[in-house]
Amino acid sequence: MAPALLILLGATVTLQADLLPDKKFLLLPPVNFTIKTTDLAQVLLRWEPNPDQEERNVKLGYHVKINSPQEEDYETRNTESRRTTILHKGFSASVQTIPWNDHSLPPSSWVSAELKAPPGCPGTSAVNLTCITSTEANTYTHLRPYQVSLHCTWLVGKDAPEDTQYFLYYRYGSWTEECQEYSKDTLQRNIACWFPRTFINSKGRSSLAVYVNGSSKEAVIKPLDQLFALHAIDRVNPPVNVTAEIERTCLTIQWKKPVSPFPIHCFVYEVKIYNTRKGFSQTEKVTTDTFIAIIDDISKYSIQVRAAMSSVCRETGLWSEWSQPIYVGNDEKQPWTEWFPVVLMAVICFLLLTFSLICRICHLWTKLFPPVPAPKSNIKDFFVTINYEKSGSGETDIEVVSYVEEPGFETLEDSVF
Ligand SMILES: *[C@@H]1O[C@H](CO)[C@@H](O)[C@H](O)[C@H]1NC(C)=O
Ligand SMILES: *[C@@H]1O[C@H](CO)[C@@H](O)[C@H](O)[C@H]1NC(C)=O
Ligand SMILES: *[C@@H]1O[C@H](CO)[C@@H](O)[C@H](O)[C@H]1NC(C)=O
Ligand SMILES: *[C@@H]1O[C@H](CO)[C@@H](O)[C@H](O)[C@H]1NC(C)=O
Repeated sequence: MAPALLILLGATVTLQADLLPDKKFLLLPPVNFTIKTTDLAQVLLRWEPNPDQEERNVKLGYHVKINSPQEEDYETRNTESRRTTILHKGFSASVQTIPWNDHSLPPSSWVSAELKAPPGCPGTSAVNLTCITSTEANTYTHLRPYQVSLHCTWLVGKDAPEDTQYFLYYRYGSWTEECQEYSKDTLQRNIACWFPRTFINSKGRSSLAVYVNGSSKEAVIKPLDQLFALHAIDRVNPPVNVTAEIERTCLTIQWKKPVSPFPIHCFVYEVKIYNTRKGFSQTEKVTTDTFIAIIDDISKYSIQVRAAMSSVCRETGLWSEWSQPIYVGNDEKQPWTEWFPVVLMAVICFLLLTFSLICRICHLWTKLFPPVPAPKSNIKDFFVTINYEKSGSGETDIEVVSYVEEPGFETLEDSVF
């Protein structure tokens, strides 16, 4: 009994010896916690270790909690943290001191800070902001072989005064640019923007921040900011050099990858084959740059191809536009039936022409080589004279003339002789 009691006593003593210093060692919250806007849609969170914190052989860290606009939670050993986030709804966060590695110690209490939402009347901010990027070959410099353009559109806030003017800015990484080419509505308010060249890297993974603020004499215009994931707004170019060929019942379609910094294996395609005679179209998904279809019909086909990024290289996004349609094959009977009457007419005309030409040549022959000997013409004159004497009517005249011109005249002359 006595040894057991002793052991128990000893255990309590050692336990107390362990607990005692820990009860005194409390983690204190950080001080001077601030949130500062450093760029478009970017904030810097900063704090200092509590100067009253007891120095112990314990490594300290911080637990940061973003409360709005979107809840987020992370731990760090630094005393500052940069976040990319929308700010037009305000921003608030809290931070506490935590033991790094040793989770038996309780964390400190929280300290919080916030950024107020920017001022502005409700309903005045731009709404439905959408942006699209596209890539072109860079014709200006070979240092960057591709350039990215950006197009954004938005709607005027429903309560924005008529004199409201909006301005758009984008930020990618550390680059910020203001829009130079706006499109306007009937009240001359900016509602779209076009950047022919940007600092956006189409293969980059950072998000694109777009900010639209505004001014009006009648109201304070609430700004709007929005973040876009590049893969979600990047419109891939359509495939190029689409060709198609029909060999008997085999339709072979080929194309080249779109203009893009991404290599050939990064794309998937859709091929649309439209049978113009049947008015029927068929769309096929392809991962190579060739497609072969078996066709059983004599028809004309219209062919289009479009591209999208494959998930092999990046999260899939939008489909490209369809390529310009190309046509192969033909409706065989149609041209023949169309051309037949024309050909027939041409043949008939040709025959008629030849026939009349022959006739003329024959006639010319008789004129060039008038019938000899001379007495014949005397007899002709005689005939005519006789006829004139017989009757003075014009009808007989014509009859005689036609008689003379008749090719059979010679036989008549012969019989006269
Ligand atoms: C906190 O801020 C105050 C006032 O700006 C300053 O006097 C103090 O030194 C700061 N504390 C620490 C630990 O940096
Ligand atoms: C604008 O966005 C709102 C909400 O996202 C939607 O209900 C509305 O239809 C959109 N308006 C237009 C014209 O697209
Ligand atoms: C809009 O934002 C830009 C960049 O922050 C600023 O320079 C400009 O003065 C703002 N314009 C208005 C009308 O608030
Ligand atoms: C597409 O065709 C054009 C003209 O035939 C040629 O110059 C160009 O190099 C081709 N493009 C590709 C990607 O093969």
